[in-house]
Amino acid sequence: MKLITPWVAAVALTFAGSALAQAPIVIKFSHVVAVNTPKGKGADYFKKLAEERTGGKVKVEVYPNSSLFKDGEEMEALQLGSVQMLAPSVSKFGPLGAREFEIFDIPYIFDSYDDLHKVTDGPVGKALFKKLESKGITGLAYWVNGFKDMSANKPLRKPEDMKGLKMRIQSSKVLGDEMKALGALPQVMAFSEVYQAMQTGVVDGSENPPSNFYTQKMHEVQKYLTLTDHGVIEYAVIVNKKFWDGLPADIRTTLEGAMKDATKYAKKEIDDALAAVKASGKTEIITLSPAEKAAWKKALLVVHKENESRVGKDTLDLVYKETGFKP
Ligand code: LMR
Repeated sequence: MKLITPWVAAVALTFAGSALAQAPIVIKFSHVVAVNTPKGKGADYFKKLAEERTGGKVKVEVYPNSSLFKDGEEMEALQLGSVQMLAPSVSKFGPLGAREFEIFDIPYIFDSYDDLHKVTDGPVGKALFKKLESKGITGLAYWVNGFKDMSANKPLRKPEDMKGLKMRIQSSKVLGDEMKALGALPQVMAFSEVYQAMQTGVVDGSENPPSNFYTQKMHEVQKYLTLTDHGVIEYAVIVNKKFWDGLPADIRTTLEGAMKDATKYAKKEIDDALAAVKASGKTEIITLSPAEKAAWKKALLVVHKENESRVGKDTLDLVYKETGFKP
């Protein structure tokens, strides 16, 4: 047997050591929507900034379109550390026990993006992130997809038109109550399965912002889209707390800065997917008159009271105050 001389071993160790020192910190960032959406673009922009500003010490691997985890699986994966960063819709925190996030699902609580940002940038946004800490999760930023519209294969003009329809929703009690208030039958389902469920008639319709509707090709399998704007899809960009706290402080600060700028960028990326749906000629877009919209709002008001204790009366009152909400 040949003996390795001490100096050969020393050189080998030095090489191995420097290779280790140079191995980048990898952040797997998983999400469920298409690349060409506000969230998809925000994630890619964060990757670019993070890698540039850390001089390659951090590598961000973005996995769009449920290619790594489906919603319903991704939260557990984050807690286990199989993925480091996610941007789930806040409607998905209920099963984790952070049901207060469903405040964002309360119908017609926000009239505009300004209203929404007042809430996410204010004390409510901060208090909600605090609730995630005990679950091993750190909240970094709020992003938004857009206002949601209702789709089906029949025209939906009045709230009564929803009666008996099987409507796909995210796993949120508030969203379940919203569909029930309209006489529809809510069906919880992973986002990646919605297209096929529409195609095969497992569901009759769904609620989505135009960007998700278009990029998931739902216009191929839904004849009508009604611009109800009854709610929002709001995202929380979150990280595994242990991973985040364990980063070298200078890297963490740089990444926080990158996230801040990616957030500003994602805000601007609320695109006009509606124009693309229109151009496809496959889905008829129904615009409601103010009186028609008021009828939807009236039918859905009951959901506020029904969920007062779920989202917290104090939080609800604070949001009303911040947005100037009037029933
Ligand atoms: C949904 O499941 O409808 C959304 O949460 C998808 C998304 O992330 O926009």
